[in-house]
Amino acid sequence: MGGWGKELELWIDSGDIEEIKKAVELGAITGVTTNPTLIAKVGYTKDFREVVREICRIVDGPVSVEAVSLHADGIVEEARELVKLGDNVVIKIPVIPEGLKAMKRLSQEGIRVNATLVFSTNQALLAARAGAAYVSPFIGRLDDIGHNGMQVVRDAAQIFRSYNMPTRVIAASIRHPLHVIEAAKAGAHVATIPYRVIEQMVKHPLTDIGLERFLADWQKVVKQEAVKCP
Ligand code: E4P
Repeated sequence: MGGWGKELELWIDSGDIEEIKKAVELGAITGVTTNPTLIAKVGYTKDFREVVREICRIVDGPVSVEAVSLHADGIVEEARELVKLGDNVVIKIPVIPEGLKAMKRLSQEGIRVNATLVFSTNQALLAARAGAAYVSPFIGRLDDIGHNGMQVVRDAAQIFRSYNMPTRVIAASIRHPLHVIEAAKAGAHVATIPYRVIEQMVKHPLTDIGLERFLADWQKVVKQEAVKCP
């Protein structure tokens, strides 16, 4: 499965190369979103561009990298440089007026954009009309202030589908495994998930208990076999 298909995708939300490797090895993760905070958290000593190149080699699917200029010209310039780091780079641009202008120009150049810091359906709609390939409603941060983050995902996904708009909705700022299920039910095309939450999704105490029991019982079979055929 490539990273550009129409099916529901699960990506990792991380700037940590080791975490990204571990997540991609699981076989279910097809893309990456980073942001300046996630990259800063790792505290790399190597050049940021080298980090992006490496992430792009680890995963075949989209790798979102954020432009940090606040003016359209600067964002466009940054984006043109960032896409040279890997064929799969997608440029994250915040939904501000200058960001929308840059989205339009970049989409006309064929550079894929992920509209970030989306907190309303109106912002998602504007970004989609400006040519963004992806929009990222930040569910957790909306929930944190008492809003219903998932509603933005649901509304944007419904509008894009009903008008056959090509923009895809990424459920971002995910805080726990239930968010992933809710995002899938709300029609998100992608859920981008922190490594900690991916680990929580894999784990189930009944799986561990069941496995322990199977292994213990299998030992009994092996011992019986040994008695039968000494
Ligand atoms: C998405 O692309 C962002 O990197 C991310 O989900 C930010 O969310 P958080 O900082 O609220 O966890």
